[in-house]
Amino acid sequence: MSKIHSAIIATGSYLPAKVVTNHDLSQTVDTSDEWIFERTGIKKRHIVAAGELTSDIAVIAARNAIENSSIKISADEIDLIIVATTTPDLTFPATATTVQAKIGAKNAFAFDVQAVCSGFVYAITVADNFIKAGQVKNALVIGAETLSRIVDWTDRNSCVLFGDGAGAVILQASEEKNRGIISTKLSSDGCLNDILKTTGGTSFNQKSGFIQMAGKEVFKHAVDKMAKSVIDALAKVNLKTSDIDLLVPHQANARILASVASKLGLDDNKVILTVADHANTSAASIPLALDYANKNNRIKKGDLIVMEALGGGLTWGSVVLRW
Ligand code: ACO
Repeated sequence: MSKIHSAIIATGSYLPAKVVTNHDLSQTVDTSDEWIFERTGIKKRHIVAAGELTSDIAVIAARNAIENSSIKISADEIDLIIVATTTPDLTFPATATTVQAKIGAKNAFAFDVQAVCSGFVYAITVADNFIKAGQVKNALVIGAETLSRIVDWTDRNSCVLFGDGAGAVILQASEEKNRGIISTKLSSDGCLNDILKTTGGTSFNQKSGFIQMAGKEVFKHAVDKMAKSVIDALAKVNLKTSDIDLLVPHQANARILASVASKLGLDDNKVILTVADHANTSAASIPLALDYANKNNRIKKGDLIVMEALGGGLTWGSVVLRW
């Protein structure tokens, strides 16, 4: 087994300035703060300004991570950039290449990963494998979304759930024992792609479409599959859910998170919950929550951290790491 591990040396994030509260939404669709908060735990979401692109917010999160790095690193030392996003600036080129140009990471190679809300766990797993193979030393992994551009703001079933944002981590090859990513587990089931999808696409109708989902079905799959994924990822390295110090889940909604935590037997204080402040930001939600935990001293050296997500595809997965 490779002695090289991928250690997270920095986290960063960005939420756009404009805030839309549940009360604001109740002025435009038939909903209420009570309904939204009780069903989802969401209080507000951040929305990009006109002309503000996924690459713009990804760059702010990336720069924030570079500035906060525990080991000083400059943009030209980054070997790989992956942006996990469902809302790229353009159909092509990849948003990651735009980020590369904007931050001046001239020695990197860059591409996007599209696994919807699981995008960040997929992207970090890909980066981890490049690092373990010895092909990359420093990887910038970003989750960034402008979901507001694919939300139907007249559909109360979906518009209350989503928001925009970006989060980033820098992974570095490390031979330090007991540090870094120790297990990953990715899964998908394309037979379930109808229950969470957009109504459009480049090849399908040359439009980006709007988010459409069967909420109750997604809920059921999310709870069962994310809990099993965590248990499987831990079992690969002979660990149990009782070993977890901190769960950093995809921030879909508070009831899904509570059900997963309960299946895993975790107390509330072991689960990072930020969905109230930014709603579901898809691939951005885990790095946003991780950066929140990091900056608010919720993580200490040696902690066993588990990240998990489920999204359209369906795709789902988990990442287990020692901080
Ligand atoms: N405000 C007020 N009423 C609403 C709203 C709203 N925003 N949205 C739906 N309703 C109404 C419905 O029209 C329905 O009314 P009816 O009984 O008169 O037909 C009633 O509320 C109940 O609707 P349900 O869809 O049954 O509500 P449910 O309790 O299932 O909650 C919710 C809906 C919150 C979407 C839930 O199914 C859920 O959390 N699903 C998970 C989906 C999710 O988080 N997806 C994110 C993407 S996937 C991921 O990230 C894991």
